[in-house]
Amino acid sequence: MKAQLLIKNIGMLATACGNAAKSGQEQGEISIQENVWIAVDDGKIAQIGQGEPENMEAEQVIDAQKRLVTAGLVDAHTHLVFGGWRENELALKLHGVPYLDILAQGGGILSTVRSTRAASEEELREKTAAALDEMLALGTTTCEAKSGYGLNLENECKQLRVVQRLNESQPVELVSTFMAAHAVPEEYKNNREAYIDQIINQMLPYVAEHKLAKYCDVFCETGVFSTEESKRILLAAKELGLEAKIHADEIDPIGGSVLAGEISAVSAEHLIVCPPEGIASMAKGGTIACLLPATSFYLGATFAPARDMINAGVPVAVASDFNPGSTPNLSLQLAMNIACFKYRMTPEEVLTAATLNAAAAIGCADKVGTVECGKQADLLIWNAPNLNYIFYRYGNNQVDTVIKKGRIVKSK
Ligand code: NIG
Ligand code: FE
Repeated sequence: MKAQLLIKNIGMLATACGNAAKSGQEQGEISIQENVWIAVDDGKIAQIGQGEPENMEAEQVIDAQKRLVTAGLVDAHTHLVFGGWRENELALKLHGVPYLDILAQGGGILSTVRSTRAASEEELREKTAAALDEMLALGTTTCEAKSGYGLNLENECKQLRVVQRLNESQPVELVSTFMAAHAVPEEYKNNREAYIDQIINQMLPYVAEHKLAKYCDVFCETGVFSTEESKRILLAAKELGLEAKIHADEIDPIGGSVLAGEISAVSAEHLIVCPPEGIASMAKGGTIACLLPATSFYLGATFAPARDMINAGVPVAVASDFNPGSTPNLSLQLAMNIACFKYRMTPEEVLTAATLNAAAAIGCADKVGTVECGKQADLLIWNAPNLNYIFYRYGNNQVDTVIKKGRIVKSK
């Protein structure tokens, strides 16, 4: 066989298996193989074998030097495109001003809306490209990106177009989510009905018609969008072919996770204070719990009841939630470490959460998220001899080499 790329001398290959999200006990049942090689052809994984590869020619050979190989990480929840930063909020946070109070005073998300509206598409593209380059070095090879800092047709589409353009010009594969229901913009403060009407009757049809997003997300939270409003927006989105996601139970449990299950949302996000009835509803509706442990850490909040979700058969994904407010951190690796320690998820469960389950949460589990023949060759070689090691060490980038569609795109 003549391969495009051969990775030999892999100490441990750790991967979830299959094309659909794993839940319950299966979330932790991954495949671990030692002393293996992987042959890549046409950007896809062609063959996986044990020991020394025989009769194998390859255009390029990498010696993995007995280290760990996994699938590329999939970051299923980011607010990737935005203008400015919000380091001015740090002092407020340290003085205990609540996140929702900062928002209610016109700061928080609304401050990023002002900076995003003021930035040109080109400025946003350059800034986001730099962020993606860092993410790639940290092992993220596929990433979801939400709009939600434009809050009008022109500026939401500006964010979505940045994602569309970057998807064609750099290696990290991007999946777009339309999130005009991230906050009520200041100009509609006294007329929220009119804003919701604009989302449903103007923005959603435009986004659907121009195929600018695959998903629609709503921030279902006290003082932001109610459960009833979230439902209207998400059902309208589904009618137009955009699948539903929902920021639910991040700060107050107002019914977002229950709604997620009822409308069979693809995923519900955050779920820090998710009640038992929310977990039951998600299990019934086939909703993936997309947990964001770095956000709990950064907000000084409690941690989502991940173990209860796993026990109830809800597939758990772990994502970074990268955004300028509640967690300005690009590293999904760090989120994985926190998941392990604060959710008490095992390394195997977290690996599934940040690869296969994350891929399922953004509709690409048939092509990424596992290391199996036929899947896209999105692979990481870690500076680690085994899976436990990357959870045991933390705080530095442990990814050595990043391969996207069979091409080396980062190497230390
Ligand atoms: O997922 N909670 C809502 N949205 C983001 C934060 C956005 C921001 O603060 O700018 C989140 O945490
Ligand atoms: Fe978020």
